[in-house]
Amino acid sequence: SAAEKGGYDYFMLKEIAEQPKAVADTLLGRIDAGGALTLDELRIPDSVLREVDKVVVVACGTAFHAGMIAKLAVEHWTRIPCETELASEFRYRDPILDARTLVIAISQSGETMDTLMALRHAREQGAKVLAVCNTNGSTIAREADAVLYTHAGPEVAVASTKAFLTQLVACYLVALYLAQVRGAKWGDEVRGVVRELSEISGEVERVLETMEPVRELARSLAEKRTVLFLGRHVGYPVALEGALKLKELAYMHAEGFAAGELKHGPIALIENDLPVVVVVPSPRGRSVLHDKIVSNIQEIRARGARTIVIAEEGDEAVVPYADHLIRIPATPTLLQPLVSTVPLQVFACELATARGNEVDQPRNLAKSVTVE
Ligand code: AGP
Repeated sequence: SAAEKGGYDYFMLKEIAEQPKAVADTLLGRIDAGGALTLDELRIPDSVLREVDKVVVVACGTAFHAGMIAKLAVEHWTRIPCETELASEFRYRDPILDARTLVIAISQSGETMDTLMALRHAREQGAKVLAVCNTNGSTIAREADAVLYTHAGPEVAVASTKAFLTQLVACYLVALYLAQVRGAKWGDEVRGVVRELSEISGEVERVLETMEPVRELARSLAEKRTVLFLGRHVGYPVALEGALKLKELAYMHAEGFAAGELKHGPIALIENDLPVVVVVPSPRGRSVLHDKIVSNIQEIRARGARTIVIAEEGDEAVVPYADHLIRIPATPTLLQPLVSTVPLQVFACELATARGNEVDQPRNLAKSVTVE
């Protein structure tokens, strides 16, 4: 009913708008006044976490994209090797797991069969499994050794939005907690990240306030057949997520690429007026990546692409090459997906509406996939 949708036309719109609160709720009570993490519900003892020598993240779909970002965070902050794998591929290749492996299973519903089977396989091999889950008492939450709940609240729309942002927050917390208990890298950088994480919900809110031009742009592209998405580092999973949203909601051909791969094939797809969304890394920090992506934008634009550029406020280098410029607030490098994903959700939702599609219940899809 309209009341359930809180005055919005679709649950998806409501859930997009709830993201600042969902992010804040997922952080609530988990960072103390001194900036240290307190994850009391994590039933895996610190002594076990100190011995972990490998982290493996398993998930499907949007949760898998969160897992790809988790890998970058875990390795950067803890220096523990981390791999992220599609849950549906994981157990069929006889993965190497033992008591010192920490498996993180990410699932909004906690009922995704592929993720559940990966979890069971990991536990049989003696690995510890930590679930990052949004649904209290779900099967994955019950069967894992420990759960870190995301506090997104119920997500009704099939296309995941607020669950994704809270999965990211939970994964950052796990990575930072691992760094904390192991005493690794707990220097000024990590302290700064924790501080910015605790304030990030306001930045998500700011992004939401500036989405009207994104909606206008989406409507103008309603007749297009294809949209491509490019990103690097944390922007690559964001590009994949933007493409997945567009497939699910707008039923358009959409693909995400790592921008560095362009010249290894995908650049052949560029043709006149093809919309290409580019997620630009911060010009601070890893500025090498920033400069490389700016030349990618130049290359595709020279070949006719219509460039839709998502870039940090104050990043002037992209201006000459952006046919459309979407600004996001500056954040620490690894946290950028919390703000850069939001315009892509709005973009896909508006395109779906413009094309007359059912936003909350896309064709052929179910909210949780309980078969393998
Ligand atoms: C997201 O928009 C999708 N509907 C889908 O990819 C989803 O994220 C995936 O099926 C995993 O679901 P889960 O988080 O409930 O395990």
